[in-house]
Amino acid sequence: MIEVAGLDHEYDGRRVLSGIEFSVAPGEIVAVMGSSGGGKTTLLKCISGLITPTKGSVKVDGMNVEKDGEQARQRMGMVFQSAALFDFLSVADNILFGPRRLKRRSVTEEQTLLTDTLKAVELDPSISKQMPSELSGGMRKRVGLARAIASQPKVLLYDEPTTGLDPITTYAIDVLIRKMKDETGITSLLVSHDVNSVLRTSDRIAFLDAGKMVFLGPPADFLKADQPNIQELVRKSQAQSL
Ligand SMILES: Nc1ncnc2c1ncn2[C@@H]1O[C@H](COP(=O)(O)OP(=O)(O)OP(=O)(O)O)[C@@H](O)[C@H]1O
Ligand SMILES: [Mg+2]
Repeated sequence: MIEVAGLDHEYDGRRVLSGIEFSVAPGEIVAVMGSSGGGKTTLLKCISGLITPTKGSVKVDGMNVEKDGEQARQRMGMVFQSAALFDFLSVADNILFGPRRLKRRSVTEEQTLLTDTLKAVELDPSISKQMPSELSGGMRKRVGLARAIASQPKVLLYDEPTTGLDPITTYAIDVLIRKMKDETGITSLLVSHDVNSVLRTSDRIAFLDAGKMVFLGPPADFLKADQPNIQELVRKSQAQSL
């Protein structure tokens, strides 16, 4: 569903991603981990088409992100790190923003889409008239996710979906990410630095170190990987969960 081939990226001549090559199967959840500044967000931006990689290609559902532009982007929903809602729009207008750009719907059709989408992220439809500033952090994340799925994409890209949330809310969002996959078969790529969270949600874990993908495999292999950076991350997370 996502195919990344020979991808390099440079900012002002400085290489931040190098020879990235991997794919994500339909319905799979892959998490990208790595040290700060390792290039995770840059990789997500290259995949979503927000930036054009210096070299290499990205295909989503067979569409080339660079060449097929809008057609490829329509297949993706982004959940940004800070939830990034439009503060001047109500919850309903935030969620319907993408769908309205794609297709005209009657008021009743919009209402149905809105209610279904809010239910999918386990929010009560009664919040649709509220403004983002009136919501808690966890609710904002859910609305961010609702906005990403409202256009019915085939792929969801998440940048740090649980950063800044307390452990209970983090757990609830993790369960929701898993539920999205189980109920709709959506393909997901998520950037995270929370090992415990990634172990709960992901089918495979990738590790980026100084712009190179040094590991990609199932959680069980990640836990016993021999790269010192991975071992350190795993040790820290085990200490935290004690
Ligand atoms: N727009 C930009 N212009 C120049 N350099 C950038 C830009 N965006 C990121 N960088 C640099 O590229 C490198 C990779 O950044 P990136 O944000 O992809 O890392 P990251 O793995 O997401 O880090 P973090 O865990 O802190 O979010 C960093 O050294 C960063 O300073
Ligand atoms: Mg980042």
